[in-house]
Amino acid sequence: MAVWGTGNVGRPAVRAVVADPDLELAAVIVSNEAKEGRDAADLVGLGAPTGVAATRDAASVLAGGDVDAVVYAATGDTRPDAAVDDIVGCLRSGADVVSTSVYPLIHPPSTPADLRDRVDAACAEGGASCWVSGIDPGFLADLFAPALVATCVSVRQVEVRETFNYATYHAPHAVRDLVGFGTAMDSPPPMLWPSVPTMVWGGVLRILAELLGIELDDVDERIERRPLERTIELPIGTFEEGTQGAFRLLVRGLVAGEPVIVVDHVTRIDDECAPDWPYAPERSMGCHQVIVHGDPDVTLTLEAGDSADPATLGDRNVGGIALSAGRIVHAIPAVVAAPDRIVTAADLPLILGRGLVRP
Ligand SMILES: NC(=O)c1ccc[n+]([C@@H]2O[C@H](COP(=O)([O-])OP(=O)(O)OC[C@H]3O[C@@H](n4cnc5c(N)ncnc54)[C@H](OP(=O)(O)O)[C@@H]3O)[C@@H](O)[C@H]2O)c1
Repeated sequence: MAVWGTGNVGRPAVRAVVADPDLELAAVIVSNEAKEGRDAADLVGLGAPTGVAATRDAASVLAGGDVDAVVYAATGDTRPDAAVDDIVGCLRSGADVVSTSVYPLIHPPSTPADLRDRVDAACAEGGASCWVSGIDPGFLADLFAPALVATCVSVRQVEVRETFNYATYHAPHAVRDLVGFGTAMDSPPPMLWPSVPTMVWGGVLRILAELLGIELDDVDERIERRPLERTIELPIGTFEEGTQGAFRLLVRGLVAGEPVIVVDHVTRIDDECAPDWPYAPERSMGCHQVIVHGDPDVTLTLEAGDSADPATLGDRNVGGIALSAGRIVHAIPAVVAAPDRIVTAADLPLILGRGLVRP
């Protein structure tokens, strides 16, 4: 199988493929000329060489017949149409695809019809399946939340919350241009334009509703932004006082006017900003939580610290993204066995990490 892209998601994805006894790394596709020809191990922080040299020639990889699945981890943020074209090419060649990159494919019933039809047609042509997920949007809502609800006596409301400080998120374009940190308060960034949060998170909210057997009457969203009260210097640049320093977005699934499922994102670039909003426990850089209101009230907190790179040891942003990669990579055999169309977590069995624990 192949991993396409060696950024934040692609690096742990390559390591996850190497660690998974059911998978074999056949190719690593890169866009960056400087990475071409290098052993994948050098690019992703593995000690032992993989014997797989990174290539920029995706067409040859797909035509070569060695690749029955692709982890598509090239960014879709700056190039959504090109990412879809790449994924369609993989599927048409017969390779199943797992990816974190194209959010509108997370929940096929709410995917724009022309996009859904195009990807489904490619699946049918190649006899392949396509699964887009991650941590959030992803398994926080489509795995942990329903599992937690199933342990409760009764439940009134389920909330999935990401609370993060992006100061160490190594994606300057996403941090500044996409979500708007350091940009003027009078022009909202693209990720916070009306309806965009629902486009990104509405899908997992609806998957969770389906898994829980809830029929939603409506989905609404709330967006709030706060300015920085001081200028801060970070490895990814200077963020000036008065520019955006925090945002909170809520996407809510409503029944009879009441929010029964809530996706909540509390995101800062500086912990001093928006002190009245929730923090991760002990003001760590971030966590993911499932918060169930019912009998009993229960909170599940997920904190992942990087352990692969000495330069980012313990980093919560790097750790969280590694979980996004692990989730989709270890699901590949189940995705291969799934129907030849866009699939969701509801189409897959419970994946329990068989063979992954080794001293
Ligand atoms: N659902 C979730 O939980 C979740 C979590 C994290 C990220 N994501 C999504 O997953 C995707 C990857 O995130 P990331 O943080 O890994 O992104 P990233 O590090 O910014 O970029 C990933 C890789 O995309 C490739 N790339 C960049 N520009 C390209 C171009 N013009 N043409 C072809 N390839 C190009 C590069 O690969 P090479 O360096 O190998 O050339 C780059 O390293 C994004 O779309 C992001 O929104 C989802």
